[in-house]
Amino acid sequence: MQSYGFVGTGELTAAIVEGLSSSGNPPQIHLSPRNHRIARDLAARFPNVRVAGSNQEVLDRTTTVVIAVRPQIARDVLGELTFRPGHVVVSAVAALTLAELRAHVSPAERVVRSIPLPTASRRASCTALHPDDPAARALFESVGEVVVPRDETALAAFSAATATFAAHLDQLATIAAWMAAHGVRPDDANAYVAHVFGELGHTLRRHDGTLDELAAKHMTPGGINEQFRTALREAGVPDHIGHGLDDVLARLTSQ
Ligand SMILES: NC(=O)c1ccc[n+]([C@@H]2O[C@H](COP(=O)([O-])OP(=O)(O)OC[C@H]3O[C@@H](n4cnc5c(N)ncnc54)[C@H](OP(=O)(O)O)[C@@H]3O)[C@@H](O)[C@H]2O)c1
Repeated sequence: MQSYGFVGTGELTAAIVEGLSSSGNPPQIHLSPRNHRIARDLAARFPNVRVAGSNQEVLDRTTTVVIAVRPQIARDVLGELTFRPGHVVVSAVAALTLAELRAHVSPAERVVRSIPLPTASRRASCTALHPDDPAARALFESVGEVVVPRDETALAAFSAATATFAAHLDQLATIAAWMAAHGVRPDDANAYVAHVFGELGHTLRRHDGTLDELAAKHMTPGGINEQFRTALREAGVPDHIGHGLDDVLARLTSQ
């Protein structure tokens, strides 16, 4: 039976384990003991999940191991572990480059960086990974889609893009707050914005062409969508987004 190990049992691991465990043929999963509460809860919910006694035990029981601890402690955690040449090490730690990872997990030869999304819990992640590896691909295809950027620079751009979620939601909250300030009941405003943009999300997923083409489909020439988009562009919003992403990328690649 396929098996996976996880070092670091936090929010991300919980999401991936939920997704893997709710598939038709769930793999055997070995979790590191921390966080104790999350690990215990996952093992109680899913019969294919076991909590190991230590991080090393996770490595000793599995071949494909996901590293999902916080960046600040990742080097120390890896430094205490003994890897085998046959291990496939799949890191979700944004701050660790392939060169650093390889140095820490030697003699393991197959090392992959990945950016799974929390939507792995409902097998709807789109996981960017690099380099391509059949074991890492099989793992993440079990919890959604996989995209393989051509190099680490491109992978970092995917990582930076994940920094935009809160700002996007903040823009929706701003629209709802503006509606409420103009006489709409706050609950109605929230529900309306959630509905409209949730449906727009479905349209986006089904759309085959470019994002610019989709935007054009939502604009009548001279209409109010065009008016609003032009106002934001003239206020420099696209430039602010680009500069903000540049700063996130610089932070991600300087750690
Ligand atoms: N969350 C996401 O959506 C996401 C997406 C992509 C990548 N990532 C990356 O994935 C990693 C994990 O993120 P997360 O959101 O899951 O963080 P998290 O919820 O803080 O989980 C980290 C886990 O590591 C555990 N831990 C601490 N020290 C440990 C040790 N010595 N050995 C083993 N485990 C230890 C922590 O346990 P305690 O609670 O007991 O300290 C905690 O459960 C990070 O590097 C993050 O950047 C996260």
